[in-house]
Amino acid sequence: MDINELRKQIDETDAEILRLFERRMSISGEIGAYKKQNGLSLFDASRERELLESRLSDIGDETLKPYAAQLFKTLMELSKGFQLRTVNEKNIVLIGIMGSGKSSKGKLLAERLGMGFIDIDEEIEKEQGMTVPEIFEKHGKFKFRDLENRKTAEISTLKHHVISTGGGVVLSDSNMENLGKNGIIVFLNRDIDETVRTIDTANRPLLADGAHKLYEIYNDRLELYRKWCDFELAGESTVEAAVDEIIKKIF
Ligand code: S3P
Repeated sequence: MDINELRKQIDETDAEILRLFERRMSISGEIGAYKKQNGLSLFDASRERELLESRLSDIGDETLKPYAAQLFKTLMELSKGFQLRTVNEKNIVLIGIMGSGKSSKGKLLAERLGMGFIDIDEEIEKEQGMTVPEIFEKHGKFKFRDLENRKTAEISTLKHHVISTGGGVVLSDSNMENLGKNGIIVFLNRDIDETVRTIDTANRPLLADGAHKLYEIYNDRLELYRKWCDFELAGESTVEAAVDEIIKKIF
């Protein structure tokens, strides 16, 4: 068989998969709406495990099992993200000290759940046409906090986004009240020694005197992060493992 013929077959198969995917997501959305109407909880981890096992038991070619497991895991995750959208369109807000991985973990989390991703510092930089260190240098800390407060209020009105915040977002109660109105707040409490050891201080004006300053900032803010979060993720983990854990905790 020639390659063009095989490619044509793949195209046709993908078109079928796409139709089935749309159908699955649409049913999943209806289930989400039903659960909302009837006050049922959205997710049931034990049912999910059972479902995965029963799906895989039907497989014809055993060698494909790990691939199929990955596929269904992804499908279920996307369903959760979609049901979340159908039911309450909540944001997931990541807070924590500089270097705790709010951006890297946030991006992967958004991708895994089919949600939008937005980073408050990046939006401030785009709006001002300057980097965060440049804003600190030209206009000072108070001006930066003012820009941060305004941008946070604006971004809090979004729906169904993963929001990565700047480490100092918790310094203002109104920031956190705004973010909490439509958001599940997750505190990334990464191991502080590891964070100090690995942090890139280049774009962080508050660390101009060195990474060790982070200990002080962390101790000053720990209580605030804990006060405002819905739950905390403590310790060291890879980006993937942290995202797995957040998904488990939320659903
Ligand atoms: C800050 C953290 C930074 C940035 C600014 C101030 C802080 O964001 O907003 O330099 O006060 O902790 P990251 O936490 O994303 O580095």
